[in-house]
Amino acid sequence: MSGSEHLVSPMISERPCDVHRLRADFPLLHRRVRGKALVYLDNAATSQKPLAVLDALDRYYRMENANIHRGLHYLSEVATKAYEDAREKIRRFIHATDVREIVFVRGATEGINLVAGTYGRKNVKAGDEVLISAMEHHSNIVPWQILCEEKNATLRIIPISDDGELIVEEFEKLISEKTKLVALAHVSNALGTVNPIKEMVAMAHARGVPVLIDGAQALPHLRVDVGELDCDFYVFSSHKMFGPTGIGVLYGKTKLLESMPPYQGGGDMIKSVTFEKTIYNDLPYKFEAGTPNIADGIGFGAAIDYLANLDWDAIQSYERELLLYATETVSNIKGIRIIGTAKEKAGVLSFVHESVHPHDIGTVLDQEGIAIRTGHHCAQPVMQRFNIPATARASFAFYNTREEVDALARGIQKVLEVFC
Ligand code: ALA
Repeated sequence: MSGSEHLVSPMISERPCDVHRLRADFPLLHRRVRGKALVYLDNAATSQKPLAVLDALDRYYRMENANIHRGLHYLSEVATKAYEDAREKIRRFIHATDVREIVFVRGATEGINLVAGTYGRKNVKAGDEVLISAMEHHSNIVPWQILCEEKNATLRIIPISDDGELIVEEFEKLISEKTKLVALAHVSNALGTVNPIKEMVAMAHARGVPVLIDGAQALPHLRVDVGELDCDFYVFSSHKMFGPTGIGVLYGKTKLLESMPPYQGGGDMIKSVTFEKTIYNDLPYKFEAGTPNIADGIGFGAAIDYLANLDWDAIQSYERELLLYATETVSNIKGIRIIGTAKEKAGVLSFVHESVHPHDIGTVLDQEGIAIRTGHHCAQPVMQRFNIPATARASFAFYNTREEVDALARGIQKVLEVFC
């Protein structure tokens, strides 16, 4: 569908998303910065938090703080239940079948490192290949580089088109008997491309190759059903999903998680220890050494409750519309070029100007109270692919508005007045 087809419709969806009601749930959105009303368009870096999450964190530390899985006392029982309830909420949210498949980690990055350091170390041998794409975040490049270096294996790269779409035919050609794992972003943080991962998972599985999906940029925007996608691993971060920093999830199919050696040793991941032998704990605890991030796990559970109560058909439709409006508005500004023009996109508008550096765009916008990110977005190979040093990136959440897009456009005009 073209942008203009979307733009002629006055209604966002049959059940419009009430963005102003949603904004009321996020206190930070109402503050002023640099004397101006904040326009927060850096959601791909991190999202703002609803009151429900702030309250859950406050309640935990004021009323429930205790270590979990250990104490027999009341507080420990309450904290353990809240933490394990969060795990169950996450399982339901991504439609995993078994709560043992939900491993708490620090974030998507740690989830990928865990898989590279356990599944990868066990299964990738000299001469093997790991397949990633040209649009990956550094988090989904470097762990595989470390693994391939250690094992004398090769990292192969699926190319992308000038629109920023994965070239699926090339992907198919790159899968071979040497391929031991495919690791792909669901949504690109630098380009916004939504990849056809269901189709790609099926292609990899047809050749017996497991697939890890980096869902960090997908779950804030799209409904995800890991059973339907049939991916083997799916990683994501709470802080991009309106929850606290420092917690995230590795979803893995039980059979694979069971076959993997532990990631770190310590408390909680053991059943019994003698100097001769340690028996590891059952899933998911086998991968959760040490006192976990209890408070943020509980806070993530509160974020999931919040998200689970939203009308996702209306949210997805609203966000699609907002991104199309932003794309049309910003690309109409003289000298602007959009980087990442895939047919399927979510959340991200990356752009460059013919004569103004992205950092200068970001600096002037900041003076207007508009927060965007500029730079390589931890995806330097994407910048190399498009032969640019950096982009300016506005990234959206369901609480952003058309008025904020208009403010962005006015801000960019101001940039051009200063520099051109
Ligand atoms: N990966 C985050 C971003 O894209 C930090 O900004």
